[in-house]
Amino acid sequence: LFGLETERFGRSVHYFDSLESTQKAAYQLAYDGAPEGTLVIAEEQTSGRGRLGRAWHSASGKGIWMSIIVRPDLPPQKAPQFTLITAVAVARAIEEVTEITPEIKWPNDLLIKGKKVVGILTELQAEADKISSLIIGIGMNVNHASDDFPVEVKKIASSLFIEKGEKISRAALIQSFLKNFEKYYSIYISDGFLPIRILWESYATSIGKQIKATTVTGEIVGVAVGISNEGVLKIEDEKGVIHNIYSADIEQF
Ligand code: BTN
Repeated sequence: LFGLETERFGRSVHYFDSLESTQKAAYQLAYDGAPEGTLVIAEEQTSGRGRLGRAWHSASGKGIWMSIIVRPDLPPQKAPQFTLITAVAVARAIEEVTEITPEIKWPNDLLIKGKKVVGILTELQAEADKISSLIIGIGMNVNHASDDFPVEVKKIASSLFIEKGEKISRAALIQSFLKNFEKYYSIYISDGFLPIRILWESYATSIGKQIKATTVTGEIVGVAVGISNEGVLKIEDEKGVIHNIYSADIEQF
């Protein structure tokens, strides 16, 4: 990657014209011992994976479909924090390159005017209560025109091109993301999660608003009051009870 300003991230790049899923490939590379910072990127994914077993639409040449390998020396409970570090780094990259400020929707969606432009998927390999690797997959809709999305996706998704009205350089976005990710990762390691949490909350438009969280055990309606230091979403219901949400689909009113 020409012009890269990082020490570790993106120094080892596995590039493919077409791949089932960069996440699947990176998972195997991580398992086989690939170093921290390894990046797998594909022009097209034929079987892109989303969160909660969903498919991820990954048209050829339109977006950024990539997965990075991170090897922090931390227990597995810290894994969700990396989704939030990644979201902040992607938000900064979008701001730097397009001058548009995206919203972050907990835990891992980046939206512009309420439509999804980025999805993040974090998978974990752990051994003896220690993270051996995190595989962080990022799907970014960059140069899609509205008709490039399947009909069912068109309603809920957008691209940077649609929002900005001009083609956006994918290389510039990747470089900016890697630079910001490396920066926030090292801030996190030296100063803890708090600075990341403050930044994250500055992008999260749902804080202070009424939301509905659909979890495996049921629905919780209340006001999103923030995220904890573990990256858990806190919702206060009408009785004033605080609920910690680890995994859910969020609807904002
Ligand atoms: C979500 O459900 O919002 C997460 C989507 C993550 C998609 C990315 S694209 C690159 C990487 N490879 C995959 O198969 N999925 C992730």
